[in-house]
Amino acid sequence: MNDIALIGLAVMGQNLVLNMARNGLAVTVYNRTRERTEAFLGGPAKGQSITPAWDVPSCVAALSRPRKIILMVKAGTAVDQLLDELLPVLEPGDIVVDGGNSHFEDTVRRTRRLRETGVFFAGMGVSGGEEGALLGPSLMPGGPLPAWEQMRHILEKIAARSADGDPCADYMGADGAGHFVKMVHNGIEYAVMQLIAETWDLLRRGLNLSPGQTADCFAAWNKGAASSYLLEITANILRTKDLSGDGFMVDAILDTAQGKGTGLWTSQSALNLGVPVPAITAAVEARMLSMRREERQRYAPLLPAADVSLDIPAPETLGKALFLATRLAYLQGFSLLMAAERTWNWGLDPARIARVWRAGCIIRAAFLDDLVRTFAPEAPLSFIASAPEDLADAQLALRRVTTLAAAAGIPAPGLGASLAYYDAFRSARLPASLVQAQRDYFGAHGFERPDRPGVFHGPWKG
Ligand code: 6PG
Repeated sequence: MNDIALIGLAVMGQNLVLNMARNGLAVTVYNRTRERTEAFLGGPAKGQSITPAWDVPSCVAALSRPRKIILMVKAGTAVDQLLDELLPVLEPGDIVVDGGNSHFEDTVRRTRRLRETGVFFAGMGVSGGEEGALLGPSLMPGGPLPAWEQMRHILEKIAARSADGDPCADYMGADGAGHFVKMVHNGIEYAVMQLIAETWDLLRRGLNLSPGQTADCFAAWNKGAASSYLLEITANILRTKDLSGDGFMVDAILDTAQGKGTGLWTSQSALNLGVPVPAITAAVEARMLSMRREERQRYAPLLPAADVSLDIPAPETLGKALFLATRLAYLQGFSLLMAAERTWNWGLDPARIARVWRAGCIIRAAFLDDLVRTFAPEAPLSFIASAPEDLADAQLALRRVTTLAAAAGIPAPGLGASLAYYDAFRSARLPASLVQAQRDYFGAHGFERPDRPGVFHGPWKG
């Protein structure tokens, strides 16, 4: 009898299987198209403790009880279809883990559906791309606790390990918690990628640095507390030459950024929960604007340019601004996670989430260690303000960079949104009083006053 089955042999699925086999697990694999299973077994899986199944019932029959099955199929109807096929051959106590990028609301719905059958359904976030799946991903399982207790020894074995040896796999909470955490991970991923891209644009168009020089900047910033996987790969990407031409690879790529939806879902969920995540939303919208390439090409020569000529700040200032904006993006993500916890009581724990993001995932970053130590859900901004001198300097840098980007006419929506977010928190008084007055003027909506309790109306019309 095999220990576990994995269904869905696209590259992430294949690599997770190889990871499990390398860690001593006997794995059954099944894929809807037979040819893919054959190619996998004749290729990367050759000689390993991996056995094929050619249909769903025999895949289940090959497993020891309770059966453990990981789905790595495209998010959406494919998951529901597989559940329809699996349920008749599963028994109470068996476990189905959905490791795809499913929407958390689908996961909540499926968890409820399976609860009635006694089969456990657990939505699990998996991050780290192809390499992570093979060598050690960050795993964010949610759903019924007994499913985690049964799966724990397997997931901890195949997950990445942080520098202090902790496995980057932990229970995120009930129902849709695992996929919600992964969705927020991706929202932060969108924001940080956009912030890096804007900074690169300023280095390139603002400071006229060559791709190689911009790579050196990102490599120099990728040190100490500021170091992160996304900075590291950015430096590598910017150094890569286009093998089919003489230039750099990045210059040969069409400037339209696509997406599969998790960033958009993060913004949508944040709006629904009433939590501002401006850097994440700016990143989603920046991808949308990039997709309107034809219009951009048409209007580029027609729209007047900025006529202010100011010096773009030195690379060092850009690095400081980027690091502060990056931490603010994580803060927005964690604020959203806490709002989700207040709404659904899944058991989300910011420190546990930060711990599983310390290695294996795309947004792994050295400062997550600090975040684990200093993050206080009741005072989230204290994590940004924990080093006041650094903050004084960093906020000046962010201010300088966004001012000069605007003056130079180089769009920096993520950096700008981050600064506005920061400034909102340092504004003891915001102009919302005027918005309230306007609401009351045209709609008699009423307003509160700081000096006395009650709801009031203004003497607007004499
Ligand atoms: C990860 C990534 C992974 C995938 C994203 C890309 O954590 O390993 O987030 O899940 O690369 O889904 O998302 P977009 O296609 O939306 O950019």
